[in-house]
Amino acid sequence: MSMSRRTVIAGAAAAGLTAATAGTARAASGRPARELFGRLADGTKVYRWSLANGGTRLRVLSYGGVVQSLEIPDRRGHYANVALGFDAIEDYVASSPYFGALIGRYGNRIGKGQFTLDGKSYQLSVNDGVNSLHGGAQGFDKRVWDVEGFTSGSDVGLHLYYISVDGEMGYPGTLRAKVTYTLTRHGDWRIDYEATTDKATVVNLTSHVYWNLGGEGSGTIENHELTIAASRYTPTDSGLIPTGELAKVAGTPFDFRGAKSIGRDIRAAHPQQVQAKGYDHNWALDKGITAGPEHVATLRDPDSGRTLRIATDQPGLQFYSGNFLDGTLTGTGGRTYRQGDALCLETQHFPDSPNHANFPSTVLRPGRTYRTSTLHSFGA
Ligand code: BGC
Repeated sequence: MSMSRRTVIAGAAAAGLTAATAGTARAASGRPARELFGRLADGTKVYRWSLANGGTRLRVLSYGGVVQSLEIPDRRGHYANVALGFDAIEDYVASSPYFGALIGRYGNRIGKGQFTLDGKSYQLSVNDGVNSLHGGAQGFDKRVWDVEGFTSGSDVGLHLYYISVDGEMGYPGTLRAKVTYTLTRHGDWRIDYEATTDKATVVNLTSHVYWNLGGEGSGTIENHELTIAASRYTPTDSGLIPTGELAKVAGTPFDFRGAKSIGRDIRAAHPQQVQAKGYDHNWALDKGITAGPEHVATLRDPDSGRTLRIATDQPGLQFYSGNFLDGTLTGTGGRTYRQGDALCLETQHFPDSPNHANFPSTVLRPGRTYRTSTLHSFGA
């Protein structure tokens, strides 16, 4: 009997997660377990939750709802953590480029941090040059969420709650957010987002996992093959704010309609790529907004055989090729992360939607519930 199975029977460190994360022992399911991860400077406790189901193992922090690690097997059954992260809460607070975090109240950028809603102008917290990025200086990624573990039928998961008060980071209305992370018996990771408000506001929640299907710290993702079911993307200005145009991907490096290695065109002399230092754009998904999650992207690492399939009901997908990783951060495996060592695939509404009447609306009004779901399916 393997060490991890003994641990499950002993009921400790729940869900078959032990310090040793390598090996081929299949992750057993069980009730999510919580341990103290660290404390913020003001003494607030940050917990780490461990859960496993269907062969997938997940570690989640109450700080930012951060996915600290996500372990899946390769084609030979060898596990690796495929999400970039840190070992210590201090690193998340001091220098995380949103590793694994929940993003809100508005994912990606709002130009100059300004928008007008029902005739009223709002000024948001500006934290990316002149623009507001990922909810401003203290976005949902830097908040401590209330977390509850659950099991339901064959599912294992976490409910995460955060209340963003009226005026926080400049946004109108008190927003009550609930995010559910579910690991299914197939080992899929599903995210269900919900929010309500007491004043009209804008909302665009997403998850900012940095994927490397070869394992975090294993080097570049340029060999990964990516497919995105989108014929158009939203070009940006030099501050990465969409110009409002929906440009065709055909005949450009942005065409991922058929599986293509990320490295193939990443150094193309296309002005949009030169400006963004790689890919950092929103793809307008062909399916548009849908009632339930539909498949929109596949990522595959030919070396390990690991695959990630993403399904969403959202209209957009931000593909960010880890352009700003610069070798100054050391991850959970003790190695530094350099440019292109991971990529993000953020299901979302289009960036800067509040300032573009031709983009799908991100307005949430009192009495309505914001609901969106994204499903990550893994294979090898
Ligand atoms: C953005 C990048 C940004 C990164 C933060 C991504 O979602 O598109 O421009 O640098 O988040 O690390």
